Amino acid sequence: MRHLRAQVVGCGAYLPERVVSNEELSHRLDTSDEWIRQRTGICERRIAADDEHTSHLGLQAARAALEAAGFGAGDIDLIIVATSTPDQTFPATATRIQAELGMTRGAAFDVQAVCSGFVYALAVADNFIRAGQSRNVLVIGAETFSRILDWEDRSTCVLFGDGAGALVLAAAEGNGKAEERGVLSTHIYSDGRHNEALYVDGGPGSTRTVGHLRMEGREVFRHAVVRMSQAIDAALDAGGVTPGDIDWLVPHQANIRIIEAMAKRLNLPMDRVVVTVDRHANTSAASIPLALCEASGDGRIQAGDLIMIEAMGGGFTWGSALVRW
Ligand code: UT7
Repeated sequence: MRHLRAQVVGCGAYLPERVVSNEELSHRLDTSDEWIRQRTGICERRIAADDEHTSHLGLQAARAALEAAGFGAGDIDLIIVATSTPDQTFPATATRIQAELGMTRGAAFDVQAVCSGFVYALAVADNFIRAGQSRNVLVIGAETFSRILDWEDRSTCVLFGDGAGALVLAAAEGNGKAEERGVLSTHIYSDGRHNEALYVDGGPGSTRTVGHLRMEGREVFRHAVVRMSQAIDAALDAGGVTPGDIDWLVPHQANIRIIEAMAKRLNLPMDRVVVTVDRHANTSAASIPLALCEASGDGRIQAGDLIMIEAMGGGFTWGSALVRW
């Protein structure tokens, strides 16, 4: 039996120019470079310019991904943007990127799963391709979290940054075996009972405002390790692979201590883990495609490598994906 599979044929990334160091934050907040580095591994983050919106970041990443794939906008039949910081309450940021790319056919929509957003968007894209409904899909993670941070709250504002990453997925026929290139499986989960641990205290339907991010860091940390471990086990089972088969772990980048715990669980040395949290901080839905692009761009990730992706975020939402690059 022939199977349709979503192959990664290009990726692109974009980071705003402005670098904000821990040192700079320590001048206006009761914090220190030492605290931030020790507790999170973050050294600096990028912050978007005032006139730079999520769609602008996503557009740059999308253009780079299309160029890498050798595709034009007319080749794409679906755009999915994972974001929690859309330009407008509606329409979807994906439609703005569609217009800017000059794509006048197909469909474009946003997916909202906070820091798990890219894994969710990848799962949706993979299913559209497997079902034969789309052939070439642009999956983008783009965020301007700097806009929803409470810059007086040291327990959250030091943790996040802005950025965007994108993948072009193309349908390919194969026999469905784990040796073949493409998205092998995706696994997404949510448990809505944990709203209070990580949320934004506003929204159009409740306060008519945008609101600010609020987080019980310790509580999220505790759940993150347990839940992402479950998601990783599901991906290993579905792929019929063992931790020893994994070439690269590409985790959501929230905290180096969480990343190290996941690597330990897979028995992977840290030189097999892609880490960007030191320079990007937590860019929510953008963190995984940014990390994928960095490591494929510098030659670490090679065609045929087996990649484990995992994330956890507000909701709670969490998930994993196993991809043969
Ligand atoms: O991407 C979505 C998922 N998000 C995450 O995965 C985040 C998960 N959580 C974490 O990464 C960590 O819990 C944090 C980095 C947020 C916090 O680290 P922690 O080791 O859990 O610290 P804590 O919240 O227990 O705070 C320890 C102390 C507190 O002081 P007291 O109560 O011990 O006196 C805080 O007030 O550190 C204090 N603190 C700070 N001190 C200096 C909190 N933020 C800061 C700060 N600078 N920026």
